[in-house]
Amino acid sequence: MNYNKKSIEDIEVAGKRVLCRCDFNVPTKEGRITSDKRIVAALPTIEYLVNKGAKVILCSHMGKPKGEWKPELSLKVVADRLSELLGKEVIMAADVAGEDAKAKAAALKDGDVMLLENTRYIKGETKNDPELSKDLASMADIFVNDAFGTAHRAHSSTAGVADYLPAVSGYLVQKEVSIMGKALANPERPFVAILGGAKVSDKLNVINNLLEKVDTLIIGGGMAYTFLAAQGYTVGKSLVDNEKLDYCKEMMAKAQAKGVKMLLPVDTAIASAFPSPIDAEIAVDYVDCTAIPEDQMGLDIGPKACAEFAAAAKAAKTVVWNGPMGVFENPVLNKGTIAVAQALADSDAVTIVGGGDSAAACEQLGFAGSITHISTGGGASLEFLEGLELPGIACLEDK
Ligand code: 3PG
Repeated sequence: MNYNKKSIEDIEVAGKRVLCRCDFNVPTKEGRITSDKRIVAALPTIEYLVNKGAKVILCSHMGKPKGEWKPELSLKVVADRLSELLGKEVIMAADVAGEDAKAKAAALKDGDVMLLENTRYIKGETKNDPELSKDLASMADIFVNDAFGTAHRAHSSTAGVADYLPAVSGYLVQKEVSIMGKALANPERPFVAILGGAKVSDKLNVINNLLEKVDTLIIGGGMAYTFLAAQGYTVGKSLVDNEKLDYCKEMMAKAQAKGVKMLLPVDTAIASAFPSPIDAEIAVDYVDCTAIPEDQMGLDIGPKACAEFAAAAKAAKTVVWNGPMGVFENPVLNKGTIAVAQALADSDAVTIVGGGDSAAACEQLGFAGSITHISTGGGASLEFLEGLELPGIACLEDK
């Protein structure tokens, strides 16, 4: 797939008011940002606009305030961090598209940067309300979408506003879509996808779509037990989505018909109960997946599966990974996820990690620098892997 949307380089931005949607939905704890990855990822676009002399009006959501003015979800913390990163003042608006925002936007000078308040403070945002879209558009001459992480949402600030302004992509959206798009459409082979996470139902369309494209599909994490159950194994107290057993059979048959190798874990870490709290010390045994006792549950892939999955990743030319292999928040049950992250870091392949927990794992483990691309999108990268058109990208002008 060729990325054929116009970018900020295809439009004259000097002296113009540019409304730039970013994904500043960053994690915070006690009012402090715990990962500024998404802010850092937005810098190339913001710096380009500043250097070109645009008047930059940034906007984003944070959390799910559902139309309520929740002070703990104010973007002020983002303005402060961004200001440090840019080395210049980021003017903070007191509202989203109200009097204060409009007055501050009108007073901007070339190269100034301002940030609107949390777009989800306004009820109309998530309903893609044309009134809010028009209000946002009225402050600017151009719309830039650089919020890949929110591109799967058809909201006023991600898509609706494009009905009223020339709309182009920022560098982050361009980079995410180009790298992941190329991997899916024209991968260097062997192409291996590694999927994990708790539930099969979260990945139904991803599995179906990837089976059209990959040479090997590896299934780990909680959802592997539903596939194992569908193969007829007893999996004890492991998480099994009984309603998806037929779907798993169908996918295994599809893999066989297409000549796609499907790898399930051959062994697993077992314990009698899920750790509580999730990071509690827990005693585990390792058994083959053909021998999970009735009173035990599988909570991570075992050492043989780690070695097999790692070997497949290392032999690949393209690897896409989404979803942890076990309960990675737990220091005993994170081994499978660490092994996969390590294998990607050691691999010479194009390695792509699709957001969310697996991205967090790579970062926490210090492997981020050795991965070709870690997506800033969680839900957005999943929908991309499903082959869906993302509304925040579809709304941008074609070249
Ligand atoms: C994310 O964190 O995945 C994006 O910012 C989208 O957030 P949402 O799931 O609240 O729409």
